[in-house]
Amino acid sequence: MAAGVRAPASGVLFCLGALLVGWVAAGLEAAVVGEVHENVTLHCGNISGPRGLVTWYRNDSEPVFLVSSNSSLPPAEPRFSLVNTSSLHIGALSLQDAGNYTCQEVLSQTRWFPVWLQVASGPYQVEVHISTSGTLPNGTLYAAKGSEVNFNCSSSSWPPPVVEWWFQAPDSSIEPFGNNLTVSCFTLLLMSQNLQGNYTCLAKNVLSGRHRQVTTELLVYSPPPSAPQCWAEMSPGLLMLQLTCRWDGGYPDPDFLWTEEPGGVVMGTSKLGVEMLNQSQLLDGKKFRCVGSHIVGPESGASCVVQIGSPSLLSEPMKTCFVGGNVTLTCQVSGAYPPAKVLWLRNLTQPELVIQPSGHYLITQNGQSSTLTICNCSQDLDKGYYVCRAENPLGVREVDIWLSVEEPLNIGGIVGTIVSLLLLGLAIISGLMFYYSPVFCWKVGNTFRGQDMSDIMVLVDSEEEEVGEEDATEEEEAAANEREELPKEIHKHVHIHRVTALVNGNTDRMGRGLQALQDDSSEQQNDMVQEDRPV
Ligand SMILES: *[C@@H]1O[C@H](CO)[C@@H](O)[C@H](O)[C@H]1NC(C)=O
Ligand SMILES: *[C@@H]1O[C@H](CO)[C@@H](O)[C@H](O)[C@H]1NC(C)=O
Ligand SMILES: *[C@@H]1O[C@H](CO)[C@@H](O)[C@H](O)[C@H]1NC(C)=O
Ligand SMILES: *[C@@H]1O[C@H](CO)[C@@H](O)[C@H](O)[C@H]1NC(C)=O
Ligand SMILES: *[C@@H]1O[C@H](CO)[C@@H](O)[C@H](O)[C@H]1NC(C)=O
Ligand SMILES: *[C@@H]1O[C@H](CO)[C@@H](O)[C@H](O)[C@H]1NC(C)=O
Ligand SMILES: *[C@@H]1O[C@H](CO)[C@@H](O)[C@H](O)[C@H]1NC(C)=O
Ligand SMILES: *[C@@H]1O[C@H](CO)[C@@H](O)[C@H](O)[C@H]1NC(C)=O
Ligand SMILES: *[C@@H]1O[C@H](CO)[C@@H](O)[C@H](O)[C@H]1NC(C)=O
Ligand SMILES: *[C@@H]1O[C@H](CO)[C@@H](O)[C@H](O)[C@H]1NC(C)=O
Ligand SMILES: *[C@@H]1O[C@H](CO)[C@@H](O)[C@H](O)[C@H]1NC(C)=O
Ligand SMILES: *[C@@H]1O[C@H](CO)[C@@H](O)[C@H](O)[C@H]1NC(C)=O
Repeated sequence: MAAGVRAPASGVLFCLGALLVGWVAAGLEAAVVGEVHENVTLHCGNISGPRGLVTWYRNDSEPVFLVSSNSSLPPAEPRFSLVNTSSLHIGALSLQDAGNYTCQEVLSQTRWFPVWLQVASGPYQVEVHISTSGTLPNGTLYAAKGSEVNFNCSSSSWPPPVVEWWFQAPDSSIEPFGNNLTVSCFTLLLMSQNLQGNYTCLAKNVLSGRHRQVTTELLVYSPPPSAPQCWAEMSPGLLMLQLTCRWDGGYPDPDFLWTEEPGGVVMGTSKLGVEMLNQSQLLDGKKFRCVGSHIVGPESGASCVVQIGSPSLLSEPMKTCFVGGNVTLTCQVSGAYPPAKVLWLRNLTQPELVIQPSGHYLITQNGQSSTLTICNCSQDLDKGYYVCRAENPLGVREVDIWLSVEEPLNIGGIVGTIVSLLLLGLAIISGLMFYYSPVFCWKVGNTFRGQDMSDIMVLVDSEEEEVGEEDATEEEEAAANEREELPKEIHKHVHIHRVTALVNGNTDRMGRGLQALQDDSSEQQNDMVQEDRPV
């Protein structure tokens, strides 16, 4: 004695109904689930074949007549009707229709069949509320990385629904939240990139089995971790300057705004962060500010400043090179932003000729310092002005360097000089002995002795200061071959010339260098020997 159950509408409901029949059959009572606004049919027992006079009642505090197969008794309401002579059909169900019904059948005997009608409602209006940082213009929600996000799912349903949450990251499978818990709200404390995806709330009416789900996409945004960086660079042709701003590592990409400083005149906004400056905007020392703004970044944005400047040059005004040797000219650029392009030129012709690196010219650039090494100097080719030119879109600067080329010093000559100087020293000592010896004193004339002594004494003084130093560095110098010619070394040579001049007392012979000194010294020595002869 159980009631056949007819499922209204959905297949899900049908399955559930079949389940309920089994449960009810054990309690010897039919149970039927109907849904609000739907129709339901309650069967008068599970009996086939001819039926007797059937009357349906509703049991609240006391039985209420609903409908009867005695056609002279009208139904209590038009919603109630009999189908197949025994079943009660109720149209447009409401929650108030839920309750216990009884079917009375009078045939050979009177039988009672109870039916329990349950009415389910919903779920309707499933609403998902996610407390996030904000909503994009297209309605998509986003949360800042590291923030706390509350999820809440509400719906209208009778009986109250079971709510489940699922999460699906892009390109991965669905995962339920919690340990198969059914909760309507939960909180994620520390949002991270792998929590970006679709959140689905499912509300299910356990009575009807009807369920609805709402999927909400949530993006997890993060600002770039470090400060923005900006720079200026020359665009091809040197006519335009390109300002670039980078602020990497954020999601999504930030926006950039370039302004002129001071004043904040807006030059442009872009996703790329690149702005072109034309000639009219290129003023020495002018500053430009890039402000990067990110949807979840600092409210006022993050910025960096670029200051453009024309180049300044620093170089020695003159250099000396020895024939056959190497010389390096250095040119130091400062204050140039963007960095200047440095060129070396020769101004022998008009227009000036740009020096190309070759076996003769070595050009190296280290940062904003450029060097030109001229190898194997020659008097005719290399003497003259060299121009170092630094150029950026803000300006061009040139500096002239005078290169003089001189005959090299003969090593043999230097050695000879030293030898002759030693001999000279010996001669001086002998001379002094000669002077102080009572035997020889009267034999040497006062006149020529005094004159010679003054010359020799000056020579010895100079040698101790300058030539001694020369001695020590002589070989090294030859090897280094003036590649790193320093002002100090030039001084040494100058001193040598001076020594020569003093020895000779004759500036005309300066050009002949130490070779001349050697010759002169030998002459002097010969003189002394001749002087000794009378002794
Ligand atoms: C009536 O119920 C019995 C079991 O109680 C079942 O075997 C039978 O199929 C049902 N008949 C109908 C028509 O539902
Ligand atoms: C319902 O009403 C019928 C008819 O009056 C009665 O026989 C039955 O006992 C009632 N059932 C309940 C649960 O009140
Ligand atoms: C049908 O109902 C009417 C009015 O209540 C009654 O007089 C009549 O006897 C009933 N018929 C049967 C078959 O019970
Ligand atoms: C009435 O009975 C017929 C045959 O038994 C069946 O096909 C039909 O579905 C039934 N109608 C209702 C509303 O139960
Ligand atoms: C419910 O029953 C009414 C008649 O009572 C009928 O007009 C309507 O189509 C039915 N609705 C459904 C969903 O079966
Ligand atoms: C209907 O009857 C069952 C027991 O048969 C009872 O548990 C249930 O509460 C009753 N429903 C109403 C609405 O009275
Ligand atoms: C909304 O915009 C964001 C960012 O542009 C995008 O990732 C997302 O897919 C968009 N959502 C929809 C529904 O168009
Ligand atoms: C949740 O539990 C129910 C029964 O308790 C089970 O049928 C279902 O498969 C579980 N769901 C998941 C996702 O584990
Ligand atoms: C969320 O679901 C929509 C529709 O299925 C899909 O287009 C979108 O890519 C999903 N978003 C994520 C982050 O998985
Ligand atoms: C240079 O840029 C300024 C500002 O963008 C603009 O007003 C001016 O017309 C431009 N001049 C040229 C020659 O493009
Ligand atoms: C090279 O430059 C120097 C310094 O500017 C100048 O004095 C000289 O006349 C120039 N020579 C030529 C050939 O232009
Ligand atoms: C000059 O420089 C060239 C190239 O660097 C080198 O080969 C040569 O040996 C140098 N000459 C001298 C004398 O140092």
